Amino acid sequence: MSSIKIRKICCIGAGYVGGPTMSVIADKCPDIEVRVVDINKERIAAWNDNDLNNLPIFEPGLDQIISRTRGRNLFFSSDMEKSISYADMIFISVNTPTKTKGLGAGKASDLSWVEASARQVAQYANGHTIVVEKSTLPVRTAQAIKEILKTTIRENQKNETTKTFSVLSNPEFLAEGTAINDLEKPDRVLIGGEDPQAINALVNIYLNWVSSDQIICTNLWSSELSKLAANAFLAQRISSINSISAFCEATGADIKEVAKAIGTDKRIGNQFLSAGPGFGGSCFKKDILNLVYLSGYFGLPEVANYWNQVVLLNTWQQDRIYKIVLEKLFGTVNGKNIAILGFSFKANTNDTRESPAIRISCELLEEGAFLSIYDPKVSIERMKEDFENHSFDNPMIWKMANSIQEALQNADAVLILTAWDEFFGLDWNYLASFMRKPAWIFDTRSVVNREEIKNTGLNLWKLGEGT
Ligand code: UDX
Ligand code: ADP
Repeated sequence: MSSIKIRKICCIGAGYVGGPTMSVIADKCPDIEVRVVDINKERIAAWNDNDLNNLPIFEPGLDQIISRTRGRNLFFSSDMEKSISYADMIFISVNTPTKTKGLGAGKASDLSWVEASARQVAQYANGHTIVVEKSTLPVRTAQAIKEILKTTIRENQKNETTKTFSVLSNPEFLAEGTAINDLEKPDRVLIGGEDPQAINALVNIYLNWVSSDQIICTNLWSSELSKLAANAFLAQRISSINSISAFCEATGADIKEVAKAIGTDKRIGNQFLSAGPGFGGSCFKKDILNLVYLSGYFGLPEVANYWNQVVLLNTWQQDRIYKIVLEKLFGTVNGKNIAILGFSFKANTNDTRESPAIRISCELLEEGAFLSIYDPKVSIERMKEDFENHSFDNPMIWKMANSIQEALQNADAVLILTAWDEFFGLDWNYLASFMRKPAWIFDTRSVVNREEIKNTGLNLWKLGEGT
């Protein structure tokens, strides 16, 4: 089949998805010029920073790719007009948070940024342009993008004959912390669309490093729904294992043993069975709430309730952890020092969106605890912003610690919320000397080995471990 040869790509949105995805495309396709644009000039400046430690996102392996490609065939820019007008293919990779007000507030996705991007594309594009939705979007958003593109051109009659568009859906399945590996060795690439030539053009880009049997082509709506469904299934697994973790604590079983036992069944599989403080990240909660909203909209309340329970269980898990801390510390944390180890929503990322650490920390601050927070990658500005988004009844007292040892100074308890490598195999005998006795370790990520705290005088509570 004849296909359009793509020479120039523009990506709108230089975030956690756009940045790494375009870096890998530029790396794998040296003949294609890739321009990533963003309205946030500071973010673009950070992507262009000579010191690769200042890239706006931390992702293992990303700095090496940037050093190979930036300035060669990968460019970060704020010049929307130029970057869009020269592109044969435009990826839309902007934020789609849950709506905070209006119809569908708390559930539906806010598509303001997608809509604004589509309008920019309609205004500046030239000739035939393939528009690819990369952001996670509710089913049938491609239709909305198509409408915007068509209507905006119609309004501008002068250019009507010179602009045409094909819209594709190409959802992203990368997980933060392993994004580069996920992009370089994807389980599958999913492309949804109606225009065979446009689909072929995108397939040809991926064929530079992905085998054809891993590229799945579907219609637009199946592609959009598959992304929501995949994330909902993954999140459901976490809520399932977390529900069983509480059951283990109540009955004397051990969640790690149970996870291993059930995971050896090939039909269940052993991935995504780590119990923890609940799922965070920008996608899971947002996508499920979206599914809940759409199920309600399409008259399927039972389906909506079913998926909503996955989110409710996740919040419950976070609340139950802070309540256990409270209970073990004689019913009050008022005036007590608590060290928090790990603030990002998972290891190997500086992203804190929907991090369980935020909710749990806020509950403890509300109870009057003093928190000393250590995370190897999250900045103090990020923590401040996360706390500022919550309204507190009491004044909150927290500080960022620069090391584990500093966080544990005089602490009555330490709460491990992210499984960073450096939290494993700690010398608890040494660390115990900094803490105020009786002191507790609350381990929500199975980081501490019970053997390691023998003879340290510390008490250990492990999520999912019954006594
Ligand atoms: C997820 C999907 O994995 C990815 O395919 C999609 O494109 C975006 O959303 P991400 O949110 O980056 O990726 O990370 P993921 O590894 O899926 O973890 C999400 C959350 O679940 C984290 O808070 C993590 O700690 C938690 N989790 C994951 C568990 O608690 N237990 C597990 O076994 C796995
Ligand atoms: P994701 O995790 O989906 O990549 P991020 O919030 O990390 O989400 O990134 C989305 C990026 O999109 C942000 O840097 C934001 O400034 C950018 N953005 C949003 N709307 C527009 C727009 N209309 N034009 C250009 N960039 C945009």
